[in-house]
Amino acid sequence: MKVLVTGGAGYIGSHTCLALLELGYDVVAVDNFCNSSPESLKRVEELTGKKVPLYGIDVRDEAALDRVFKEHEIGCAIHFAGLKAVGESVEKPLSYYENNLLSTMTLLKVMGKNGVKKIVFSSSATVYSTENVMPLNETGRMGCTNPYGWTKFMCEEIIRDYAKADPEWSAVLLRYFNPVGAHPSGRIGEAPNGIPNNLMPFITQTACGVRKELVVFGDDYPTHDGTCVRDYIHVMDLAEGHAAAIDYLMAHTGTEVFNLGTGVGYSVLDMVKAFEEVNGLQLPHRIGPRRPGDIAVCYADPTKSRALLHWTAKRTLKDMCADAWHWQQLNPRGYEA
Ligand code: NAD
Ligand code: UFG
Repeated sequence: MKVLVTGGAGYIGSHTCLALLELGYDVVAVDNFCNSSPESLKRVEELTGKKVPLYGIDVRDEAALDRVFKEHEIGCAIHFAGLKAVGESVEKPLSYYENNLLSTMTLLKVMGKNGVKKIVFSSSATVYSTENVMPLNETGRMGCTNPYGWTKFMCEEIIRDYAKADPEWSAVLLRYFNPVGAHPSGRIGEAPNGIPNNLMPFITQTACGVRKELVVFGDDYPTHDGTCVRDYIHVMDLAEGHAAAIDYLMAHTGTEVFNLGTGVGYSVLDMVKAFEEVNGLQLPHRIGPRRPGDIAVCYADPTKSRALLHWTAKRTLKDMCADAWHWQQLNPRGYEA
């Protein structure tokens, strides 16, 4: 079966393309490269020995997207394309609503027109209200604190409504926790533009000297060491979760939502310590003030994914730290030559 992957050149998209190719799927990717480079998928082709047709188009361009569906016999779509920086979404809310909502609606429309009625959507744990108790399960109360989160919340609703209107539709909404790490080859990984927003790229860039030190955002939270706890998940486990979601799509109709997390939380200082130990180095870091908007603890209840997707995260914190560092060392400037 041929899978259309929007945002396929991005961090999670490129790892998912690789996992799907290794499982025997064909992949067609579209990406406008607003936060990625076509180089990632060239490397996926090298690693797998398989071709990935890649269209440099915006998912909101209905005519261009329609041509992709006409040129390929697509069985289902995974929709990664979107803007994802929480802070930027607060500064530029309209860009986020425009890009994330319109790309989702255009994709659904073009899929419907071409009779392709199966979609996997990249959602986020950020759609859960901060009032829930941990671990978060899929029935938790919803609510967001920033425009990025609301775009995910709204896209979930749009997909749900669209799928409800036609009983042949099947949709899987995947709520990711904190994806980190890279493919063990070190050929593909996370290549953020400018100053990273997320912890792991900040750690790896500090370790290789691109950044002077890591600032730990607060050590007065009600956690075992005072720093925030998150559910870090290896990006290859996440990628394999998408293959499991495709299996589920093929066997069901309607919309279902799943957490993709490990169910285990680690603090920022746990991450620093693990990174130092696994890679045999010292990471310059200091405690700074809290980052506005952070919550103390966030981790998944992965029971439903385990039961219905028959998927579970297998890789360890050691794998996450080793693979992230391997990628950083081999590609100190990401995909730039
Ligand atoms: P990424 O930025 O690396 O990948 C997204 C890709 O989509 C990029 O290659 C970008 O160029 C492309 N894109 C954006 N808008 C587009 C458009 N209109 N048309 C075509 N291409 C477009 O991000 P990622 O980390 O791989 O995230 C993938 C998805 O998962 C996103 O939807 C993100 O919101 C979601 N997600 C990510 C995380 C995380 O921490 N990385 C957590 C939860 C959810
Ligand atoms: N942190 C630091 N120093 C840094 C960067 C991060 O101490 O330089 C801390 C943060 O305060 C937080 C933890 O590391 O406690 C993880 O931070 P990230 O920014 O990596 O991840 P978040 O949990 O804040 O956010 C992630 C995704 C969002 C998503 C959210 C909820 O980046 O897109 O999870 O799922 F919305």
